[in-house]
Amino acid sequence: MSTNKTAAIRKAVFPVAGLGTRFLPATKAQPKEMMPVVDKPLIQYAVEEAYAAGVRHMIFVTGRNKRAIEDHFDTAYELETELEAAGKDQLLSLVRSLQPDDMHLSYVRQPRSLGLGHAVLCAEHLVGGEPFAVLLADDLMVGPPGGAPVLTQMVQAFERCRASVLAVQEVPQDQVRRYGIVAGDRVDARLIKVRDIVEKPSVEAAPSRMAVAGRYILTPGVFEQIRNQPRGVGGEIQLTDGIARLMQSEAVYALQYEGKRYDCGSKDGFLQATVELALAHPEVGAGFRSYIRSLEL
Ligand code: UTP
Repeated sequence: MSTNKTAAIRKAVFPVAGLGTRFLPATKAQPKEMMPVVDKPLIQYAVEEAYAAGVRHMIFVTGRNKRAIEDHFDTAYELETELEAAGKDQLLSLVRSLQPDDMHLSYVRQPRSLGLGHAVLCAEHLVGGEPFAVLLADDLMVGPPGGAPVLTQMVQAFERCRASVLAVQEVPQDQVRRYGIVAGDRVDARLIKVRDIVEKPSVEAAPSRMAVAGRYILTPGVFEQIRNQPRGVGGEIQLTDGIARLMQSEAVYALQYEGKRYDCGSKDGFLQATVELALAHPEVGAGFRSYIRSLEL
């Protein structure tokens, strides 16, 4: 298989095997990663972000009810034939743009939702012995206006430090228990050398307010750590615990990325993303803005 040989990070893992219970009943029969923000499913935003960062091999860790994701990135033969016959060239190229010729897709199943660490471990044989990215599609990341997307910023940080890089953002004190929290020493304005990482700590136990967002660049050493670790918070095999163990033998960095994160696994975050991305959308933005203005709020 040919991949982008010049890119620092060539492979990305998309764990999409979670149950999405926070979004029931919408996620009963469809993956939450297929929920659209304006006109694109969450997983497509994440795949586009990875592609923009130079990644060419996309590895999906899927589960039951996730077939729609495979179909989304596959050729839609009947649809394309119909669009072609109708002369709808713009729509045809839109549909085809989902599958650039140099992008490769692999799927592996996580038989049970045993946790994010376990999901990443399911992709080990496809990643092999090279550094790789992990993107959680329910965290929709938007880079700063006119600036690099978040994963691109992380690849640039990786090129400097040649070690694992976690995306982090500061969160309010009362939210630390929802995240992996890191503490460490500042290398520069945005980069931190991680000293401590804890999954979902209590407010009292949190070493800082710096929370891990759903983007990681990891060295392959993390697989062995995950394989040998005990179950963590919630009885799950946590990625955070694997990273904590990796830190005993390798440096791990955290990048305070520029841009915005929407937690689309929650109803609030999903609604915020929908409103803000709709306002910025080239086709519907202007009309949507005047609609919002017309509301008596
Ligand atoms: P979440 O914590 O958001 O879990 O997982 P979830 O099950 O998807 O959603 P809720 O909390 O029940 O609403 C973070 C990411 O890790 C993936 C999820 O698909 C999501 O992208 N994940 C989680 C797995 O792939 N496998 C798991 O066992 C757990």
